[in-house]
Amino acid sequence: MANCRNLRELLETIKSTGRLLTFSQEVDPRLEMAALIHQFGEQPVLFEQVKGSSYPVVAGICSDRELVALGLGVPKERLLFRLAEALAAGSRGNVQEINPAPSQEIVEERVSLHTLPILTHLPGDGGPYVTAGVVIVKDPDLGRNMSFHRLMRLDETHFAVRLVEGRGTHMAWQKAGGELEVAICIGNSLAVLLAAAMSPPPGVDELSIANALMPTPLVRCRTVELEVPAEAEMVLEGRITRQLVDEGPFLDLTETMDIVRRQPVVEIKCITHRRDALYQALLPGGMEHKLLMGMPREPTIYEEVSKVCDCINVLLTPGGASWLHAVVQIRKRDPDDGRRAIEAAFRGHASLKHVLIVDEDINIYDPAELEWAIATRLQADHDAIIFPDQPGSSLDPSALHVAGEKSRTAKMGFDATIPWRNASGALHTEGERAAFRKVRYPTV
Ligand SMILES: Cc1cc2nc3c(=O)[nH]c(=O)nc-3n(C[C@H](O)[C@H](O)[C@H](O)COP(=O)(O)O)c2cc1C
Repeated sequence: MANCRNLRELLETIKSTGRLLTFSQEVDPRLEMAALIHQFGEQPVLFEQVKGSSYPVVAGICSDRELVALGLGVPKERLLFRLAEALAAGSRGNVQEINPAPSQEIVEERVSLHTLPILTHLPGDGGPYVTAGVVIVKDPDLGRNMSFHRLMRLDETHFAVRLVEGRGTHMAWQKAGGELEVAICIGNSLAVLLAAAMSPPPGVDELSIANALMPTPLVRCRTVELEVPAEAEMVLEGRITRQLVDEGPFLDLTETMDIVRRQPVVEIKCITHRRDALYQALLPGGMEHKLLMGMPREPTIYEEVSKVCDCINVLLTPGGASWLHAVVQIRKRDPDDGRRAIEAAFRGHASLKHVLIVDEDINIYDPAELEWAIATRLQADHDAIIFPDQPGSSLDPSALHVAGEKSRTAKMGFDATIPWRNASGALHTEGERAAFRKVRYPTV
């Protein structure tokens, strides 16, 4: 099993499995490249020749769980537990600093963002967007924060950055009075990508979490007081300003178009990069976007559900944009465990909208089997619980959105575990419960 400390080691590992697609003919980052990535099912891909840029582009490197498992060197079924361990270890971690660093082999103080192969994904987009950029800032009170933020290129030295209100970067920018130093890292290890997508408790350093997943040495930036992963492909240094511009429209996680909002301008003053740097892209609304959003929430749901019953596994399903829908698998020991698991799952992921609870005999990776559990084990008047008017995800187009306020939504949990009581409330015998199990044909 591989332990890939940076993007290029991951690319080599993927290549050795025969899964890497390579395009040697020139591809245009304006509309053509995103369409190709999509057309090839988001397979890991390297575009060697890019129109208008000397940087090759990679995409699709974590577009399914097998790839993430391969890169982290753990079996697919253990991913949730590996992330949970790193989340716990990260709050205690200290990260090594090195100098010199590969990400600073070249330092460009005359900046032109037009040299980067920034993709325009769809004809309706507000502009070319950096989508796999990991943003590092320092909160005046809480210290370092690392998070994903899409960046729309405005001109040679400026981006508009989407800062979701209330998230770490937005709060740091507000506390700093609207002027905040920033480093944007592109071409990151899996550990950095996963840690950047986590929301640990305030003050927990996501770079320590990355380091707990895979050794992630840091280097000090050249022009700002920030530390960044030393093995990133490139780092853009600058500041988030108080100037606001229109940002969007842009395709979001739910595969629907996000609206135009007034968002801060970022000014870039210096670019450092590896001598032969790769640029990393990911498709908005695609599988990589979904997995990176959803996978870090599985351990937080697992932890909450484990407090109230015996939780076996958690999956954020792609049909729910890997954000709004979860399946929670439990080993039921009490008639009310299903209901308890529903309530706990919502505590474990604030943006969760629907959750399905199933028993240990259900294959949670098989949508047909999940539907079968609903069909054969659930009576909606007992086993579906509706929570009206809850705080919900800003990403759900059907929620109620009021500018400056938390979105509101109804939430629903389905307990599709084997019922332990009959219609009159009496407990089923073990034999009656066994009758709910699928009869499997023997293998001959
Ligand atoms: C691919 C990807 C793109 C994202 N884009 C944005 C974005 O543009 N703006 C934003 O505020 N959050 C974005 N997020 C979500 C945050 O990175 C994520 O929720 C993070 O955990 C927030 O952490 P924090 O609350 O500690 O800041 C994105 C996440 C992923 C995985």
